[in-house]
Amino acid sequence: MASRGAPLMRGSGSSAPWSRGSRIAVAIGIGVLVGCVFAFLYPDGIFPSNPAHLQGRRNIESNKVSSSCDSSEKIDVLKFELAVALEENAKLKTQVRELSTTLKQAEQGKDQLEKQVMVLGDTHKAGPFGTVKALRTNPLVAPDESVNPRLAKLLEEVAVKKELIVCLANTNVKDMLGVWFENIKKVGIKNYLVVALDDNIEEFCKTNNVPVYRRNPDEGVDSIAKTGGNHAVSGLKFRILREFLQLGYSILLSDVDIVYLQNPFDHLYRDSDVESMSDGHSNMTAYGFNDVFDEPSMGWARYAHTMRIWVFNSGFFYIRPTIPSIELLDRVADRLAKELKSWDQAVFNEELFFPSHPGYDGLHASKRTMDIYLFMNSKVLFKRVRKDEDLSKIKPVIVHVNYHPDKLPRMKALVEYYVNGNKDALKPFPDGSDW
Ligand SMILES: *[C@@H]1O[C@H](CO)[C@@H](O)[C@H](O)[C@H]1NC(C)=O
Repeated sequence: MASRGAPLMRGSGSSAPWSRGSRIAVAIGIGVLVGCVFAFLYPDGIFPSNPAHLQGRRNIESNKVSSSCDSSEKIDVLKFELAVALEENAKLKTQVRELSTTLKQAEQGKDQLEKQVMVLGDTHKAGPFGTVKALRTNPLVAPDESVNPRLAKLLEEVAVKKELIVCLANTNVKDMLGVWFENIKKVGIKNYLVVALDDNIEEFCKTNNVPVYRRNPDEGVDSIAKTGGNHAVSGLKFRILREFLQLGYSILLSDVDIVYLQNPFDHLYRDSDVESMSDGHSNMTAYGFNDVFDEPSMGWARYAHTMRIWVFNSGFFYIRPTIPSIELLDRVADRLAKELKSWDQAVFNEELFFPSHPGYDGLHASKRTMDIYLFMNSKVLFKRVRKDEDLSKIKPVIVHVNYHPDKLPRMKALVEYYVNGNKDALKPFPDGSDW
C-alpha cells in the first residue's frame, strides 16, 4: 500500500494536483466498470472463494497438452481464460481499494502538503557556493475572524499594516501605564492597544483616548487578571496573544515599564517568527558567543566549548502570525499552567532555544535579537551607555526598565534625559538596585 501511495503522490509533484486527482478518478472508474461487467456476466459471484479454482489453472495447463478431445479442450481453454480473468479482476479490485485509500489519505494530507509546498516550493538543487540561503521567514497563517469577531473588528480600526503594539495592564501598574502611553502618543504611534485586565484600567484608557480592549468577563481568566501578580499575568499574556495571531496580526508585545522614544515599526526586520529585545548587556552576551569551559584534569581535551546567549526578554518582542509562533505561545502557556513555579521568561527561552533531543521535539521557530542600543534594557543604559560618550549619543527606539525595581522614577528620568535633553537626569540613580 505504502509503496503504491508514495510514488503516486511524489511523482505528480506540486504543479499538477488536478491531474493527479483525475488520474485517480479514472483508475477508480475503470475498476468500477470492470466490476460491473463481471457482476453482469457472473451474477453468482466472481471472487473465487475456493482457492482450488486458481490452483486448477496449473492442472488445466498441463492437461491441455495431453487432451485429444477438441470440445473438452475448448472448454478447458475457456475455463483457463476465465480463471485468468478472475485473477485479473481480483487484482484490479485490490488496486481500486488501494487507490481509494490513497485518495482518502491524500485528502487528509492535502492540508499538510499545501503547507509544505508553500514553504518549500519545488525541490531545488543547491546553488553555487555562498548563494544558498535557508528559509527563515515562515508563511503567515490564514486569518480566522471566527476566533474572536469583536477583537477582529477592533484590530481592523487600530492596526496599521496588520501590526500593532499590545500591552496587558491591571491596576497595579496604572502609573507606569500612564507614562507608557504618553510617550507612545508623543512619538506619533497610532497602532497600539491596551488589553485592560480590570474595569479601572479600561476606564483609565477610555478617559485618556487610549485604544483599549477588555476581554469578556466570562472567559474564565479574569481571576488571574484581577488579582494576579506579574508572573500570573505573564502566563495569561501568551493565551491572549494567540488570538491576535490567529486573527492574522503581527504583534509587538510590550510590557508597561517601557519608554518609547521612536516608532519601533520603523526599526524591525520582520524576517523571523520572533524578533526580541535581549537581556544581554554587550554584543557577546546579547548575540551569542562561544564560552570555553576549562577542565584541566582532562589534559589534552581540557577545553570544552559551550554556546551561550543571554535570554530574550519576554516583555518586548515582535511575533509574526505563523505556525511556529503560535506553537511557541501554546507550548509556553501549557508549561506555565503545569509548572506553577516556573518563570515565563525562562520557559519562553527554553522553548525557543533548546534543540530536539531524545524524548523531546524542539520548536523550530526562527529568531532574531534586536539591536541592544536601539532596543535597550536598563542595565545597558545605567551601567554603560550613560557613562560612554559615544553610546550616549545614540537615541534608542525604546528603553525597557527591566533590570530595576524603581521603575516609575527611572522611566520619568529617562524621558527627562532623552526627550527633554536634561543630561543630569540619570545621575541620581545607581547602576543596579540596592535591594
Ligand atoms: C557591536 O555590534 C555592532 C553591530 O554589529 C557593531 O557595529 C559594533 O561595532 C559592535 N561593538 C563592539 C564593541 O564590538
